[in-house]
Amino acid sequence: MSINIPFGRPQIDNHEKLAVLDVMDGTQYVHGEKNKEFERKFCEYTGAPYAVAVANATAAMHLFWYTQVGPGDEVICPAMTHVATAHAISYTGATPVFVDCELRTGNIDPALVESAITENTKGIAVVHYLGTPVDMDLILKIADKHNLLVLEDCALSLGAYFGGKHTGLWGDAGCFSFYPVKHITCAGDGGMLITRDKKLADRVRDQSSFGYKTETVGFNYRLSEMGAAVGIEQLKKSDEFLEKRRMNLSRLWTILHVHGLQTYPARLPNRGSAYALGVRTPNSTELIIKSLEKAGIEVSKYYQKYPPFWKCYQNMGYFNNACVIAALSISLPVGPHLDLDDMIRIGETVAAIMEGYK
Ligand SMILES: Cc1ncc(COP(=O)(O)O)c(C=O)c1O
Repeated sequence: MSINIPFGRPQIDNHEKLAVLDVMDGTQYVHGEKNKEFERKFCEYTGAPYAVAVANATAAMHLFWYTQVGPGDEVICPAMTHVATAHAISYTGATPVFVDCELRTGNIDPALVESAITENTKGIAVVHYLGTPVDMDLILKIADKHNLLVLEDCALSLGAYFGGKHTGLWGDAGCFSFYPVKHITCAGDGGMLITRDKKLADRVRDQSSFGYKTETVGFNYRLSEMGAAVGIEQLKKSDEFLEKRRMNLSRLWTILHVHGLQTYPARLPNRGSAYALGVRTPNSTELIIKSLEKAGIEVSKYYQKYPPFWKCYQNMGYFNNACVIAALSISLPVGPHLDLDDMIRIGETVAAIMEGYK
């Protein structure tokens, strides 16, 4: 059977298509008004004082660390994350120091952060895993005590708040991804850095475009005007997308729990952005994923190959909870492309497959 419930599907209509055509009819394909407007709208949406649009979230994180750390420095990094969180640190010559995650959320375990700090530690990276915010009060308490920078990887947390403040506004900066199946997309890659610090925003903007202003070594990490035009249209619909995700997640959560299945992240009222719903599997996920695909349901593994698993980060410690999540869990789709019938089908199919392994 072919996949008829994909994990994600970009939600594009004529608004995005016309916005792209409009840019193409002009002559300004980079460095234009669409980027400025996207940044302004993103500030309005998140409450950020400053935003810099860039090519993708990895570029945004790289630019942040590039302006702050270098060889010999260490940055605390969650073991359970996309490898991009760690790569962005490594690009600068600094070393990511991995810390295990909590089983109930998949987020970095704040209780383990302090013991990983050395005299070389300059910062902490956190990831709001599957859209559930990290307890930023605990992280900032540690950061303040040791005078450390904090970067929030918000690739999965658009629309997620902690303590009434949007994720990305607690640390020194927050970085968002608009990769095709994220909460919103730029119809290709796209990213945004938000910050409360004007100097940092100016520096990141300059470094994202060759370092022209300061005549320093910079990068070409620009977002195209077409990408920004799509991002503006998507942002208008983001609350609607998020509402659908939350509703789908709630329905699926209920069905799975009726069947006695264990899910994560733990549900925290009014905080998450419901990127996906994780479910624990009784044994290796491979056969279960195959059975689901046979039934036409595509699932994901966030993140099966978490960074300490990579050759380039080997021998940097053993992380039990990250290992358990990677080996014994799958992420189920709850995106705005799906409805109640899809949730029932996913929930009942997962339950029937798991029953076969009891
Ligand atoms: C937590 C996390 N960080 C970073 C990234 C990389 O984002 P981008 O592809 O926009 O560079 C991803 C992508 O899936 C992610 O899930």
